[in-house]
Amino acid sequence: MTKHALITGITGQDGAYLAKLLLEKGYRVHGLVARRSSDTRWRLRELGIESDIVFLDGDLSDGTALQRAVVKARPDEIYNLAAQSFVATSWDQPITTGIVDGLGVTHLLEAIRQFSPETRFYQASTSEMFGLIRADRQDENTPFYPRSPYGVAKLYGHWITVNYRESFGLHASSGILFNHESPLRGIEFVTRKVTDAAARIKLGRQRELRLGNIDAKRDWGFAGDYVEAMWLMLQQDKADDYVVATGVTTTVRDMCRIAFECLELDYRDYVVIDPAYFRPAEVDVLLGNPAKAERVLGWQPKTSLENLIRMMVEADLRRVAKE
Ligand code: NAP
Ligand code: GDD
Repeated sequence: MTKHALITGITGQDGAYLAKLLLEKGYRVHGLVARRSSDTRWRLRELGIESDIVFLDGDLSDGTALQRAVVKARPDEIYNLAAQSFVATSWDQPITTGIVDGLGVTHLLEAIRQFSPETRFYQASTSEMFGLIRADRQDENTPFYPRSPYGVAKLYGHWITVNYRESFGLHASSGILFNHESPLRGIEFVTRKVTDAAARIKLGRQRELRLGNIDAKRDWGFAGDYVEAMWLMLQQDKADDYVVATGVTTTVRDMCRIAFECLELDYRDYVVIDPAYFRPAEVDVLLGNPAKAERVLGWQPKTSLENLIRMMVEADLRRVAKE
């Protein structure tokens, strides 16, 4: 029997990699797409999978659309990846962020509860929920302390997922994923901003790179590895919550150094610190402990930060050269 999956946020970084993984596993993949005035399917084309996907219209803020999508797709599994996912924007659009990243999760869970209670559910939770960290290495038992409207909205999404699991017995899991990147990462996130700028500087298309707090530390992994953990969570008999991380943390400064060194450049010659990129409240450091994911799911990250950054720099170099 062919399994059916519904992915919200299929046009985003993780949505594209997850869709590819599920197609390779023989799934029929349905993708929820919000109406936009310009094209958002470039990542799916880049991976060569656009024509393999059944697209359904819907926005996370519109519960009726989500109900229709669930009834149409009759999915065995739903992966809720849709979100206003850029932390910095969440201070400028706190209400939208709350509606989509928080209440949107309830809309989807309600659609499952009413129309398809056997459907397994994955919620894209985040290490941003740890915010002002309460333990040096964060795991499933570390208390949360979000530091942005994004983190607060995602914390609601996390707890409503736990609550629907406990209240209605839904197979609903929450993946607490630490930062993960790839050549398909949005250009506004720091890793991609850096690799794109390094490529442009190398090719003489840009002179400097303006950044904010380069002392911030993140636990960065490869998105292609992380979508596998999402899938594994929904293959377990029992739904649960898992931290997915590499267990290594690195400053933005060092990440820059590695990226520029790939092109035989010294980041110190090009990086300018610009107060415009500092945040109203910062998450200074994140460092995950993925021991539970390793023990229960048999999941481990496969890609080192050095290899990830090299992959991103090389992809950006090829793309910028063609412009
Ligand atoms: P992304 O590239 O920003 O993708 C977000 C997706 O959500 C896009 O497909 C976007 O559609 C869609 N979307 C936004 N608002 C929507 C709405 N109102 N209704 C329906 N769809 C909407 O994010 P990502 O990096 O793939 O992350 C996937 C999920 O994991 C997000 O929920 C994010 O918060 C979470 N997460 C990410 C990371 C990470 O490091 N990447 C870590 C932890 C958790 P458009 O293309 O039309 O904008
Ligand atoms: N974006 C950006 N731009 N970040 C900068 C810059 C800059 O110019 N300069 C310094 N930074 C710092 C930010 O202040 C932050 O501490 C760090 O770089 C990482 O920023 P982002 O790449 O924007 O990611 P994020 O950590 O805020 O959020 C990402 O990871 C979360 C998981 O921890 C997003 O993917 C979220 O959706 C995800 O939940």
